[in-house]
Amino acid sequence: MSSTHAKSTSSTVCYSRFAVALHWLLAAALFAQLALGWWMIDIPKSPPGLRAGWFNVHKSIGLTIALVVLVRIVWRTIHPVAAHGALPAWQRQAARLNHALLYLCMLAIPLSGYLGSTFTRYPVRYFGIVLPDWNRDWPAAKELMSAVHYAGVWLFMTLLALHIAAALWHWLKRDPVCARMGLPALPRLVQELTRR
Ligand code: HEM
Ligand code: HEM
Repeated sequence: MSSTHAKSTSSTVCYSRFAVALHWLLAAALFAQLALGWWMIDIPKSPPGLRAGWFNVHKSIGLTIALVVLVRIVWRTIHPVAAHGALPAWQRQAARLNHALLYLCMLAIPLSGYLGSTFTRYPVRYFGIVLPDWNRDWPAAKELMSAVHYAGVWLFMTLLALHIAAALWHWLKRDPVCARMGLPALPRLVQELTRR
């Protein structure tokens, strides 16, 4: 099996190095983007420029994230990874559902953000480059897309909380799930301490 394909050992089926790198790169970018999104909406409208400037940074990062997510989905489709065989069926199904919904959010959030931004009078700038303006000023559609963006963000954060709690649980149990995504094992010392 090539090094870019899933590697099988007697107990684990791992994600490829590229998939692991994309997972952690996107995780870092998405946490930063969430923080930026929540912070920027409270920037006052005056003096003019500051708020618009940070909105443009948010839009540019968000569109870049969407492109990386597309690369990740293509890679994942070409290089499927088997569900963890040692886990009970309900856990495998819960993980599959969680991952599918995370992907859905990672597409729906930037798409609604972009579409909402095109329904305004202001052009969308990608790191300073003005993108083609193919839509028109349509406040009702902008409102709808903002609502989708907002609901998507909350769904995403809920799914993430479940995802991270599940990862932590597997890590404490010392089963091989976390190793699939390149996380180091729980150190023996911590395990000894938590046992007492
Ligand atoms: C924005 C942050 C994150 C997102 C969007 C995300 C998304 C995902 C997705 C979609 C998968 C499935 C991989 C695939 O099938 O392609 C996955 C797997 C995984 N993630 Fe995350 N993740 C995030 C953060 C984290 C964090 C912080 C941890 C650990 C604390 C973590 C631990 C894992 C583990 C261990 C797996 C492998 C699960 C398995 O083998 O079934 N993730 N993640
Ligand atoms: C995965 C990528 C993205 C994440 C995680 C994200 C996250 C957020 C968050 C947390 C907020 C504040 C809550 C809210 O008002 O909805 C927000 C607001 C906003 N985002 Fe994003 N965003 C992403 C991509 C984008 C993209 C690609 C655009 C536009 C091209 C965009 C445009 C906006 C705008 C204009 C707002 C202000 C509120 C509104 O008018 O809807 N976002 N985003």
